[in-house]
Amino acid sequence: MARIPDAFIDDLLARTDIVEVVNARVPLKRQGKEYAARCPFHDERSASFTVSPTKQFYHCFGCGAHGTAISFLMNYDRMEFLDAVEELAKRVGMEVPRDTRQRNENDDSRDLYAALEAASKFFQRQLHASGKARAYFDQRGVDEHTREQFHLGYAPEGFSALKDALGTDERRLKLLDRAGLFSKNDRGHVYDKFRHRVMFPIHDRRGRTIAFGGRVIDKDDSPKYLNSPETALFHKGRELYGLWQARQANQKLERLIVVEGYMDVVSLFQFGVTQAVATLGTATTPDHAELLFRNAPDVYFCFDGDNAGRKAAWRALESVLPRMRDGRQAFFLLLPEGEDPDTIVRHEGAAAFDARLKDATPLSQFFFDELSKEVNLRTLDGKARLAERAKPLLAQIPDGAFGDLMRQRLTEITGVGAAGAGAPTPAGAPARRAAPAGANKPSLVRSAIVRLLHSPSIALSVEPPYPFAGLRQPGVELLAELFDIVHSRPDITTGALLEHFAEREELSALQKLAMQDLPGEEAHWRAELHDAVVQLERQMLQQRLDELQRKQRETGLDEADKYELRALLQARASH
Ligand code: UTP
Ligand code: MN
Repeated sequence: MARIPDAFIDDLLARTDIVEVVNARVPLKRQGKEYAARCPFHDERSASFTVSPTKQFYHCFGCGAHGTAISFLMNYDRMEFLDAVEELAKRVGMEVPRDTRQRNENDDSRDLYAALEAASKFFQRQLHASGKARAYFDQRGVDEHTREQFHLGYAPEGFSALKDALGTDERRLKLLDRAGLFSKNDRGHVYDKFRHRVMFPIHDRRGRTIAFGGRVIDKDDSPKYLNSPETALFHKGRELYGLWQARQANQKLERLIVVEGYMDVVSLFQFGVTQAVATLGTATTPDHAELLFRNAPDVYFCFDGDNAGRKAAWRALESVLPRMRDGRQAFFLLLPEGEDPDTIVRHEGAAAFDARLKDATPLSQFFFDELSKEVNLRTLDGKARLAERAKPLLAQIPDGAFGDLMRQRLTEITGVGAAGAGAPTPAGAPARRAAPAGANKPSLVRSAIVRLLHSPSIALSVEPPYPFAGLRQPGVELLAELFDIVHSRPDITTGALLEHFAEREELSALQKLAMQDLPGEEAHWRAELHDAVVQLERQMLQQRLDELQRKQRETGLDEADKYELRALLQARASH
């Protein structure tokens, strides 16, 4: 994706008023220093959604949604990052910078998208024209409206229907080829890849066609499904069929249901279950898992009840474990043999399918059930084997209550604690990680960060280089980084500062600190920040003194060390 310089984003956010942007979509009421409304991202009666004009960001105390004007547009208007940036830039009359290389790349992919779109339109026209293809969808019970929604089509018989219709010159032929729509025989002859198949276009998150799946109409043809090859625009391990439609159909996605096939997604949708997506003939990858959870907090994996389905479910579980941050839930539903979501929803209806989902097995239970299957838990040996298998998997769960509970469950079942978990926690009580020493009173680093976040410009009163930067304490590097950012962008807002950490794991901690109630006002915070920095410097000095004195005891000091030690002792005395 085209990379936009950070400085531009900062500038854009500095010139944009988030209150205006939000207010144009969600009417806001003034409330003290901030503005409030009922949260547009979750159902609520009271107004937990606040927008801060000074910090230039929004935050919902109910559901935790938060971000800048850019993320608001991404979440509320369902825009992609670049589009949101462009939209805001237009409002304030800025032009989004792109270097020429990027412009060429963009032109290039624009042509590819156009070729795929033209192919999709072609297949749709051919569906209208082909009695056989229409009869196929009739017989499978796919109604007109659903055919439209999914842009379903038909690739005609013969070897060159698409090639003849759209490959009108060399340039177009080349584009269609790069879009994955042709095959080549041994003698180099190029012909249509998809022939006499009903076509399922695969859309990206913005609804652009990036690939196709084609299903045979005649039973004897094979393979049953043929997918586009990987291209510049299509990486099957990163796409989910139906995600675009699901996002269109749901203002807010509470759940996503992962099914195995194109027809499962389409039929569920037609019956009103509009949150189904399918992987494209691959297992669920970690990229899929991340994409799923970025779009919905609850993810259901729905597979056939046979051996292959069970295996697919386990693969999916392995992919989601490292993504199971608190607040996310995964469930598993294995269907009766011989059924898939397409047949089930037709036999039983949407309500019954929903009921099955409500009954789905939570990840925790599925995990231990599956692992327990192969061992005899009545023996010590079996318990040990279960613990052995569980530990490396549990180690992948991110820190948080869910991981704690899973390790606790392992201890309950086997009597063996997971590695590194320490003493088993009492059953029933959620496991708490031991609080770091002195956690009751906020650390100096933390209170410095809080103040800096509330009013970034106060960091300008401390000049680089920061002598405390070498201090071995959690958060020191982050603090120094924050100072650096503010020095390079002196009028940065809190929201824009957080945007720098958009892809980083520190983001949620920073967001919490930025939301903290902080008594006083800017002048106090500046003084407090200054004090904190002075104290940190003193600690840094002490840390270095300790090091030198240890060295003196252990190996003795050289001349440079002695000189430094004297200087440090003097500095301490004058502090
Ligand atoms: P299934 O064989 O389970 O078929 O393939 P299905 O989804 O029930 O299809 P219908 O109902 O007979 O039309 C499940 C998925 O696996 C991939 C496709 O993505 C398909 O939707 N698949 C299957 C392939 O990629 N190639 C194949 O040859 C078969
Ligand atoms: Mn099927």
